[in-house]
Amino acid sequence: MILIANWKAYVEDRKRVRELVILAKRLARATRTAVVLAPPAVFLGTLATHNTSAVQFAAQDVSVTTGGAATGELTAQAFAAAGATYAIIGHSERRAAGDTDTLVAKKMAHALAHGLIPILCVGERERDSDGHYLAGLRSQIALALESLTLKERTKVIVAYEPLWAIGKTADHAIKEDDLREMALYLRKVLAELLPGQSASRSTIIYGGSVEPENIRSLAAGSGIDGFLIGHASANPEQFREIVRALS
Ligand code: PGA
Repeated sequence: MILIANWKAYVEDRKRVRELVILAKRLARATRTAVVLAPPAVFLGTLATHNTSAVQFAAQDVSVTTGGAATGELTAQAFAAAGATYAIIGHSERRAAGDTDTLVAKKMAHALAHGLIPILCVGERERDSDGHYLAGLRSQIALALESLTLKERTKVIVAYEPLWAIGKTADHAIKEDDLREMALYLRKVLAELLPGQSASRSTIIYGGSVEPENIRSLAAGSGIDGFLIGHASANPEQFREIVRALS
């Protein structure tokens, strides 16, 4: 199981950073869970550079540029040099800020070129009874992967994050049965895009209002490999409860 804590812009002071890092290390030590923190970039720099713990780090996004005269940009290469292992790409909050499928594909390539494992976020805004949303998800994945080599595609983690479930509370999250169906569907889509049988080994995770109340039921029998957790991972009380629920 992999648990990715997407702190977004919730965490802005060092006291909170310290509290959350202590909890993350405890979780990594006490369980077989791979714990990945995605802090704001400035904190990633200080935390990841001298990191010797089992906790790993993810960029929340990478720039579409590759360096040079680009004030304010945070490139994949710089994140890799700072000690990141993963990069979240195509998060719905970045897509809402202007990331198109084309930009997402470029960012995927930059991340992989510098040895970062991309965590590709896909998700529908809403569901329709005709299932058009499934085709939309398929196209988000295909457009992000099609310019990558087959070998690169096998490295990608797919984070299924339906927009209707993000930033709410556990009762608004997806239900276990629906998540099981979505995991099967996403693996089927990946099977069309990945070589041989490798889609069966792809890492598929879920994000959207994962909280201490629902994490165990969502983990049990849903066929997913982990979670991308937003608000509950940035709140020490809730994160402590999550650590407890998984330990
Ligand atoms: P949430 O966010 O857990 O606050 O719903 C998840 C995400 O957007 O990655």
